Amino acid sequence: MAAERALLELKSVVMRYDSVQSAEHLEILRGVTLEVRRGESVAIVGPSGSGKSTLLNIIGTLDKPVSGEVLLDGKDLTRLDEKQLAHVRNHQIGFVFQAHHLLPQCTVLENVLVPTLADKTGQAGAEERGRKLLHRVGLTERINHRPGQISGGERQRAAVVRALIMKPQLLLADEPTGALDRNTSNELSQLLVELNREENVTLIVVTHSPDLATRMGRVLELREGKLVQQ
Ligand SMILES: Nc1ncnc2c1ncn2[C@@H]1O[C@H](COP(=O)(O)OP(=O)(O)OP(=O)(O)O)[C@@H](O)[C@H]1O
Ligand SMILES: [Mg+2]
Repeated sequence: MAAERALLELKSVVMRYDSVQSAEHLEILRGVTLEVRRGESVAIVGPSGSGKSTLLNIIGTLDKPVSGEVLLDGKDLTRLDEKQLAHVRNHQIGFVFQAHHLLPQCTVLENVLVPTLADKTGQAGAEERGRKLLHRVGLTERINHRPGQISGGERQRAAVVRALIMKPQLLLADEPTGALDRNTSNELSQLLVELNREENVTLIVVTHSPDLATRMGRVLELREGKLVQQ
């Protein structure tokens, strides 16, 4: 039997930024290679400034590498136009950030339904799925609250539900527990592990938290612009 194609494959991804001080470029990613199978959970760790967010943003199509390939389900994301990218971002990838980015004027339920508004076909059943997922993460009593009326941990759980509402294949989280205290952080970590399984979503988290990292199936470290197995 042929091996199943990886969900995500990075080939020699290079990213550099212009340096303000000199004519030299600042090379952040120096040929990152990575294969992630469907359903896997992967942690990316490394010192501050090592390029973790840069890498996650490239995988999430928020940034384009200077060279290299980023294949999602066999399709090279670096070759898509803006319209195609918008579709990939809306349907195939969910994103959770360190700060929740919820809309302050909207309720929790309205916030998690925002991604479904762009797509008319996705709207049927969206509210039901939203309510179900919010129940799953323990927010049943909070669906009509606004972000300012709930705790930091509750906001992150709402942000996770929003990221999952479109049933993405890939969930990317950039320091999702970075702004939480230890207990709340552990709870969210556990929840991510469970949703990885229940929702059958492939999970890549960038984190400084050893607790969150060790819960993932694999821990990779970004060192001198390359990913190495820990
Ligand atoms: N738009 C940009 N222009 C120039 N340099 C940038 C830009 N974005 C990031 N950098 C630089 O690239 C390097 C990697 O940044 P990145 O945010 O990916 O690090 P990180 O590993 O996520 O760090 P942290 O753990 O602090 O979040 C840093 O030195 C940063 O200053
Ligand atoms: Mg970062």
